[in-house]
Amino acid sequence: MNPEAAAQASLVVLTVPFPAQVGILKSIRGSLEGSILIDTTVPLAATLGGKLTRVLGVWQGSAAEQARELTPAATPVLAAFHNLSGIALQDLSATLDCDILICGDDAAAKQRLFPLVKLIAGLRPVDAGGLEIARIVEGLTALLISVNRRNRVAHSGIRITGLGSAP
Ligand SMILES: NC(=O)c1ccc[n+]([C@@H]2O[C@H](COP(=O)([O-])OP(=O)(O)OC[C@H]3O[C@@H](n4cnc5c(N)ncnc54)[C@H](OP(=O)(O)O)[C@@H]3O)[C@@H](O)[C@H]2O)c1
Repeated sequence: MNPEAAAQASLVVLTVPFPAQVGILKSIRGSLEGSILIDTTVPLAATLGGKLTRVLGVWQGSAAEQARELTPAATPVLAAFHNLSGIALQDLSATLDCDILICGDDAAAKQRLFPLVKLIAGLRPVDAGGLEIARIVEGLTALLISVNRRNRVAHSGIRITGLGSAP
């Protein structure tokens, strides 16, 4: 089912827990020709029984770079949406307030994603750099989980200042 769905999509968004990332990618990589892969995976230690506020070391540097390794070379891989609460995103009555840091090595693919992010009120796409920067962006999610806990909130997010344009 996933390979058939991926074959029909020009943008494939990977939203499975870290332990499932490799298996899903192996199952769909034959269907990704002509698509852009958007990886949202945060390698949280909690997915393997560890702490929610820790990220696991990934040999490639990040979950996104692991995805790059398992994806056909011609398929651009972007890392995005790591710092946005999935619960808030699914709640159509929620007010979203978050920058979407986008990492990737294909400028044209990033330009495809920017307008889609802007379609969602309260979100601003920010080009955060190459795919290797994803290791930092993924880690920020553990920071946000810690901030949520310490401040008794559910959906803290990230805003980058100094970009010269209003969110
Ligand atoms: N939740 C957030 O706020 C948030 C924010 C930023 C990034 N992320 C990242 O987004 C990804 C998904 O997070 P989530 O909170 O949505 O996770 P989740 O609810 O635990 O899982 C999402 C979906 O992944 C599928 N799945 C789970 N285990 C699987 C397995 N072993 N094999 C195949 N598919 C499996 C399931 O699909 P089916 O129901 O079809 O089985 C499930 O509904 C994670 O990598 C997470 O780090 C999450």
